[in-house]
Amino acid sequence: MYYFDHSATTKPHKEVLETFIKVNEEFYANPASIHELGVEVNTLLSRARKQVADMLGTDETRVIFTSGGTESNHFAIQGVAKNLNSRGKHIITSSIEHPSVLEAMKQLERQGFEVEILPVNEKGLISVDEVKACLRKDTILVSIMHINNELGSIQPIKELANMIHQYSRAVFHVDAIQSFGKYPVSFDKLGVDVLTLSAHKFNGLKGSGIVAWKGHVSFEPVIVGGGQEFGLRSGTVPVAQAVSFAKAMRLAFENQSHMLSKYIQWNEKLRSSFRGYRNVRILSADEAAAHILTISVRHLKGEVLVNALQAKEIIVSTSSACSSKQTKTSHVIESIGLPDDYIRGVIRISLGTSNTDQQIDYFTENFSTIMKQVKGE
Ligand SMILES: Cc1ncc(COP(=O)(O)O)c(C=O)c1O
Repeated sequence: MYYFDHSATTKPHKEVLETFIKVNEEFYANPASIHELGVEVNTLLSRARKQVADMLGTDETRVIFTSGGTESNHFAIQGVAKNLNSRGKHIITSSIEHPSVLEAMKQLERQGFEVEILPVNEKGLISVDEVKACLRKDTILVSIMHINNELGSIQPIKELANMIHQYSRAVFHVDAIQSFGKYPVSFDKLGVDVLTLSAHKFNGLKGSGIVAWKGHVSFEPVIVGGGQEFGLRSGTVPVAQAVSFAKAMRLAFENQSHMLSKYIQWNEKLRSSFRGYRNVRILSADEAAAHILTISVRHLKGEVLVNALQAKEIIVSTSSACSSKQTKTSHVIESIGLPDDYIRGVIRISLGTSNTDQQIDYFTENFSTIMKQVKGE
């Protein structure tokens, strides 16, 4: 198989799986237990938390482990909003956020918060000036993703962070789920207040995420119970996932610049091949992230292309994995204002650590064969 769907998920690295098994086999005690075994496991958990905190540039009292990106986004958004409820109810986000953000926002709206959803331009970019114009005294939260999962557009996060902090007291949350391990992600680099990550996007395990923050951000817990994770996220902490998260993060971190240079090279190769077709439109802007390349073929259904490529053992997706099973057009594709004849033919090629130079050549050769068959070009 030639796997080009890394933005949907990645295969866990062998070392991550080995860590997961080892911790489960040898350190299975509850980290909250006061006996010797519990203390040992708790030490392991604290070490993993510190590694995560160090890589992001915060301290270990400002990282919690969650069940993945969706829960992390919920916690970050609802936790901040409910905590700052008495200061204001105004929240700003973008129209191309992941559903885990947009749906969390809808829940808040039903609870009386006022959510402003800002549009993006044809490149999938939000305007810093527009965000600035929307900021109010009662704005408590701005949530804007770093790299979009369907287009690869990279938002001007540092610029947004500087502006938001200069003109308001709002907390700035960034979903960095598609960027960690590909582009630099840290509090120092991005200047944000809250970051959310999910391990399965960088060769870690599914069902494993974190929320990290810097400075004085407080959260109202979403999951309450035994008071684990500083009282912010109850439930016995799955230490094996936490340690595996730190492991996957370290591997991704170490490999990042090498892989990014590969993604840039492969992306350019794919783009120059796509530019050769009259009926292909490249939707990801030239400045978009190198590991996500979304195109559309005129008057064709994305599913037809996905199946034709699959027949050649090439795996891509129509847009995001979440929306690809639904028949309606993705909200992200709709928000960039695509002409009607291109709206249905969207596929996303997302690159990852499993790809090779030969696989890119295999892709372009087979894509060419398919285009000859379906479009005669
Ligand atoms: C940008 C973005 N945010 C959030 C998520 C949700 O993460 P998870 O699958 O870990 O719940 C995804 C996954 O597709 C994503 O791409």
